[in-house]
This record gives sequence, structure tokens and C-alpha cells, in this order.
Amino acid sequence: MTYKPRDISEEIVDRLSPFYDLNEARAISRQLLEEVLNIRTVDVVVNDEIELDTTKQDELNNILDRLAEGEPVQYILGYTWFRGRKYRVNSSVMIPRQETEEFVELVIQENKQLGLKILDIGVGSGCIAISLACELDNAVVHACDISKEALATAGSNSDGLNGKLILHECDILNDFPAIEELDVIVSNPPYIREVEQVNMDANVLEYEPEIALFVEDNDPLLFYRTITNWAKTKLKKEGKIYFEINEAYGQETKQLLIAEGFKEVRVVKDLNGKDRIVAGSQRE
Ligand SMILES: C[S@@+](CC[C@H](N)C(=O)[O-])C[C@H]1O[C@@H](n2cnc3c(N)ncnc32)[C@H](O)[C@@H]1O
Repeated sequence: MTYKPRDISEEIVDRLSPFYDLNEARAISRQLLEEVLNIRTVDVVVNDEIELDTTKQDELNNILDRLAEGEPVQYILGYTWFRGRKYRVNSSVMIPRQETEEFVELVIQENKQLGLKILDIGVGSGCIAISLACELDNAVVHACDISKEALATAGSNSDGLNGKLILHECDILNDFPAIEELDVIVSNPPYIREVEQVNMDANVLEYEPEIALFVEDNDPLLFYRTITNWAKTKLKKEGKIYFEINEAYGQETKQLLIAEGFKEVRVVKDLNGKDRIVAGSQRE
């Protein structure tokens, strides 16, 4: 059958509007038009009739039903974009966030030397580690995670995107990978307190892996403290550490690094003005 692209676009927005705010519904509609139906924004503007076979219609309806249930579009499509690269995602990994793109940008801007030895703790989909492997010349990038499934996803993204990673399975609350003499340690560990669940979207709570999100209420800095304590003996002199953080804990995380002897410790805000990164350098 033939359809006007604008009618399809409006129908998608209508079907999503009970569940998503208008901007989000429009953004998802644009993505589905382009990436599922091959209808570009320019086709919507021109609005000439197009052919849509029943397979594509069924596929679209199935996606819209799943979206209405609250399943994130990234898990439905099986991929998402991060710094211009397409990453496979599934329910074993957290969906990469925009704040993490800002985190990676800062690390890249401040670490342009050749051949750095880097460790990403809590690799998930691989979005941080693979970006560093792809964008920092000759970097040797190690990455670890407690989850076998996450490591498999990071491995597949690493192969597909040509960002070589050396992967380690470990629970950093018990043991770290045997790596020394690191130039840079980065981590976006679980940092949401369980009490914060009440303010979270149902689709995050129901679909994203708990182990990637939550830390116990009574010890919200657990991962930061454990990593900092290990890092101070494993970083080279002048080596650097970068944490993505819970906006509520900028100052506490900064004090933690200072207490462990790190210098040039700072809190960096994200584009929304929230404390989002804490960074420091190894003293000696
Ligand atoms: C917030 S997610 C970050 C994922 C990815 N780096 C990103 O920025 O999108 C935290 C990751 O830490 C991993 N993780 C949780 N507990 C861990 C532990 N005890 N040891 C190692 N990794 C852990 C989770 O499996 C998850 O992949």
C-alpha cells in the first residue's frame, strides 16, 4: 500500500504520546522512520507517497506495541549510537547515556599522548573503553566487568567497531585484574542509591540490569572508595583517574580522592549543570 510519510510520522507520535513526552515521541518517530522504514526526514518534508509492504507495517506495529509496554527503543532495535558509533545493546548492559559521551570527551581531550595504558572498570556495552581505543592513538585498553553477558556484548562491540579491548572478568569488590603501571583509570560504576528508585522511569527499572545501576543506600561511595584505594598503587606517577558520578556525591567523591593522596582533584559538571565527573592525578 502507499502512504504519505507525514501521516506515518504523525501516527507514530500519536501512538507514543500517551507514554512519552512529545519531544521524546518525535525523536523516536524520526528514528523509526529512518532506521526501520528507510524514510528520511527530507522524505517527510517532501511528503510524496511511498510504498510500505505489510512486513514493514507489521514490524512497525510490533515495535510500537513494545514501546507502549515501556521497553526502551534501544533494546527493541538491539543497538544504540554513542559518539557516532553503533553499539549492540541487550538487557545485560546499561544503555549508554549522553552524560557518558561528555565523560569520554573529557578523557580524550586530556589524554592525547601516544600508547597510553588504560583500564575501564565496569565496561558494560563497551562504550567508554571502545571510544578510547578508537580515538586515542595506540592506546592499550583493558576493561573489566562482573557480568559475563556484559563482557560478551563488549567483546562483540569491540570486534565490530575495531576498538581493541583486553577484557577481564572480575568482581572488583573482591579482586581486580592483575594490571600494573596504568596511565589512566576510568569508571562509570553503579551509583544510584536504592532510595532513588522512586524517582526513576519505570522503563529503566524494569528493563535495565540492576547490577549496572544500584549501590546500597548505606554505602553509596563503595565502588569509588574501592577503586581509588586500588588505583593509588596501580597508576603510574602522574597517572589519572576519572569517575562518572551520582550528581549528589560530587564533593564527597572529591574528598575521597584527596584523602587517598590524589592531586588536582576536581568536580566537572555536565551540560545540564549537574556534578557528573570527578577527576584527579596520582601524586607520585
Ligand atoms: C553504570 S554501568 C556502566 C556501563 C558502561 N561503562 C557505561 O558507561 O555505559 C556499571 C557496570 O559495572 C558493572 N559492575 C557492577 N558491579 C561490579 C563489580 N562488583 N565488579 C565489576 N563490575 C561491576 C556492571 O555489570 C555494569 O556493566
